[in-house]
Amino acid sequence: MKRPMQPYTGLQCTQCHRFFPEEAPLGKCPKCQGLLDTLLDETALSHYSKRQLENDTRSMWKFHMFLPVKAGTIPVTAGEGDTPLRPVKSFPHLRNIWVKDETRNPTGTFKDRGASLAVTRLSQLKIRKLVLASEGNAGCSFALYSQMAGIRCHVYLPSDANNAKVELSKKLGAQVTKVKGTISEAGRYAANAAEKTGAYNASTFVTPFRHDGKGTMALEICEQRGWESPDCVVYPVGGGVGLVGMWKMFKILYSLGWIRKRPRIIAVQPTGCAPVVDAYNKGRMEVPEWLGPGF
Ligand SMILES: Cc1ncc(COP(=O)(O)O)c(C=O)c1O
Ligand SMILES: [Zn+2]
Repeated sequence: MKRPMQPYTGLQCTQCHRFFPEEAPLGKCPKCQGLLDTLLDETALSHYSKRQLENDTRSMWKFHMFLPVKAGTIPVTAGEGDTPLRPVKSFPHLRNIWVKDETRNPTGTFKDRGASLAVTRLSQLKIRKLVLASEGNAGCSFALYSQMAGIRCHVYLPSDANNAKVELSKKLGAQVTKVKGTISEAGRYAANAAEKTGAYNASTFVTPFRHDGKGTMALEICEQRGWESPDCVVYPVGGGVGLVGMWKMFKILYSLGWIRKRPRIIAVQPTGCAPVVDAYNKGRMEVPEWLGPGF
């Protein structure tokens, strides 16, 4: 049987809606600095059936047709994804709660999904150096996949970042710089470094190649539930990459007719650092930098 074509077509700006067929390694929109999103041709995607999912691929890459890569791509993979969905027994009065155990990923978090995808696409686009800002987890993930792909990786972290994560990033071959201040300050350092050295900035919501990787959690959750979507997904939001990626994949599955309803998605943040929840409750479209509760 003829294999259907890969549905990925290119990048589109979420602000000015310009389309980029994407043979250059873009970050934000070159015209208006808006965020770019990856575009899938849903007609091409509809030629795939659930049965065609490569069940012998034990990673998120079994869903390669949903990912922004070209046909025949050999992924930079360490077996990320394909994580268990476990029933939660600790709240007997709340039945039917499930946890997606993302600690099973190669470096212990779902950041591996975004990093495997981004490094795969960036190595195809001939990137040799990348930088990013991280609280620790994404740094470890990008260190691992960059090392596998022979890409130089420089991670900028706030000075209070988890030291075990800093050490692991170094062991995985990344250059690490601790920055006084918060993750926002680390983000400014990463952006400056990218501008000065020509490195690619793979930070959250600068690169368009991370959120679809985390979106594979939505694909796996639906498959693990026999293609029945959950009523509700509760997600611990930092930058929001996973929330956006899963929302997009649930929407695509719904429009393909693979699931019959889309779940409610609830963003959760700790009270000590809740900029997204705070902005949402105040009806703001922008999320200002978090200065602490009550500011
Ligand atoms: C363990 C963990 N949970 C949640 C998040 C938030 O992820 P996102 O950027 O997808 O909102 C992060 C990273 O920021 C993380 O490392
Ligand atoms: Zn634009």
